[in-house]
Amino acid sequence: MDNSDTYLLNFKGYNFEPSTVEIDFLENLDDFEIRDDDVFIITYPKSGTIWTQQILSLIYFEGYRNGTETVDTLDRIPFFEMNIRKVDFLKRPSPRIFVSHLPYYLVPKALKNKKAKIIYIYRNPKDVLVSFFHFSNLVVILKPADSIEHFMERFLNGKVVGSLWFDHIRGWYEHRHDFNILFMMFEEMKKDLRSSVLKMSSFLEKELNEEDLETIVKRATFQNMKSDPLANCEEILKHEIGKRTNDSFFLRKGTIGDWKNHFTVEQNERFDRIFQRKMKNIPLKFIWDINEE
Ligand code: A3P
Repeated sequence: MDNSDTYLLNFKGYNFEPSTVEIDFLENLDDFEIRDDDVFIITYPKSGTIWTQQILSLIYFEGYRNGTETVDTLDRIPFFEMNIRKVDFLKRPSPRIFVSHLPYYLVPKALKNKKAKIIYIYRNPKDVLVSFFHFSNLVVILKPADSIEHFMERFLNGKVVGSLWFDHIRGWYEHRHDFNILFMMFEEMKKDLRSSVLKMSSFLEKELNEEDLETIVKRATFQNMKSDPLANCEEILKHEIGKRTNDSFFLRKGTIGDWKNHFTVEQNERFDRIFQRKMKNIPLKFIWDINEE
């Protein structure tokens, strides 16, 4: 274990945020008991995690969908390794839905019996980097960065929570046959939310009628989530995690291609060179621009 950086805790080669994880839990991850109907949303940070939490909350919880229950996202779908509310996972009623940033090699071994389901959301890494840069300057638990250049250096060296983006996606992709896993792309969700919700619900074997589908799609748009206190995580950031500024939000822009407003030509070329090399033989599709098909 490497504790030399106060903002990172390296455990088995992967960087965690130290104040939100418990070593005991990490050490026993392998043997964590999985139920057949467990569902895991897995992402690299800043790839559409709370968005997918919102969609699954709406799919699974009728009371949330019809507005009669006011339980926030984190109570419905807690973070697995960052259990900030100290939920007793063993006492959770089924089906349990978790969200996690774990790499493929640290998740409970029982996920390999392929009964429990995993939805892996990925996003083009240039937008992940930009979103992560802003988020690092927003919350007190992450190391701030004074420029994209500095943050890019950290990101490309894997010196961030979540470690190296390339390792995370490659690991999960190359080991996909070991798990019951659905890969979804942030950009596809953005371009066609309705089809994306249908894809998820079909994988989860949760049939939706037309009215429910419409409600889910409406409540999961960026604008509606941003103004919904149960979905926008603002209270959690303010009171449970800590914000550095009130001028920035978890739901920041929610778009595709914001990297173009942040990268210089040189930074973009450098990123492309590394992307080509590191993503060789990974046939996943990426969308870099809002107008791209
Ligand atoms: P930006 O910072 O680019 O706006 P995560 O939940 O994994 O931390 O990801 C956060 C990113 O997802 C933020 O990106 C946030 O705005 C975006 N996001 C969250 N909900 C969204 C939605 N309904 N539509 C589009 N983007 C969304």
